[in-house]
Amino acid sequence: MEPLTIHQDNQSQTLNSLRKYYSDTPGTAEIERLAANLDAMRNGKKKQIILITSAVIGEGKSTIAALLARSLAVHKKETVLIDFDLRRPQLHHLFEVDCKDGLIDILRSNLPFSRCLKPTNFPHLILISSGILDSNPVEILTNDRLKIFFEYIGDKYDTVIVDSPPVIHVSDSLLLSKFADEVILVIKAGSTPRYVVKRAIKMFGDVKVKISGIILNNMENALPRYYDYKSYHYQYYQYQDKEKESGKTNIGLVL
Ligand SMILES: Nc1ncnc2c1ncn2[C@@H]1O[C@H](COP(=O)(O)OP(=O)(O)OP(=O)(O)O)[C@@H](O)[C@H]1O
Ligand SMILES: [Mg+2]
Repeated sequence: MEPLTIHQDNQSQTLNSLRKYYSDTPGTAEIERLAANLDAMRNGKKKQIILITSAVIGEGKSTIAALLARSLAVHKKETVLIDFDLRRPQLHHLFEVDCKDGLIDILRSNLPFSRCLKPTNFPHLILISSGILDSNPVEILTNDRLKIFFEYIGDKYDTVIVDSPPVIHVSDSLLLSKFADEVILVIKAGSTPRYVVKRAIKMFGDVKVKISGIILNNMENALPRYYDYKSYHYQYYQYQDKEKESGKTNIGLVL
């Protein structure tokens, strides 16, 4: 495998794009708590594969997957973030790496898996981009090489975070869930109807997969009183008033 180089110069640029949603406010605390709770679920196992999904599009999966991965890497856990949303990949944009030479390329060929490991601007954090899709991804998701790939990646990293498409639209996350130790459902609070969330949970239930936890995103807009800092975190976070008011960090956690 080629040595992994860290591009320190670009780190602040990537950090800035992540910081839009992530700063030292309650949202950060929730991501840290999510990381701690997931760690507690390991039960002593060295590797952990975490699938992030949602019921419908745009609930915040990729954002939360990236924030969680970054948080783990900051704590020096060897982390790999995989963009398994082959149809609408986003993570390569966020981390400013090339989309090509990704999952699609290594799963379709006999290329060594190491080809797709891309260093990010964060030490301890590797990204695997989706690659460029030119046909139906079901063929990739049912490929025998996928099992070997997850074994390889699980042996190599402490934590594997897999971003995936919404389950109501396509079956990809159902297919991926059999490789995951934990499945986390992101819900855009105040937006996704309850029956849609229930249907998503049932779809996992039907393939005998239990949802490990739910992340409520968009909490500030849905439950403004939760974020009433005058009666809550206000004093503690006073120095960050501007960021709080911009409503960028509004994640709640139900594990
Ligand atoms: N907590 C948050 N606060 C503010 N904006 C957010 C938050 N979470 C997500 N967003 C924004 O909402 C949009 C959708 O988020 P994201 O791309 O992470 O969702 P997704 O579930 O991955 O979408 P898709 O289903 O298209 O892959 C993005 O513009 C993102 O920047
Ligand atoms: Mg996404």
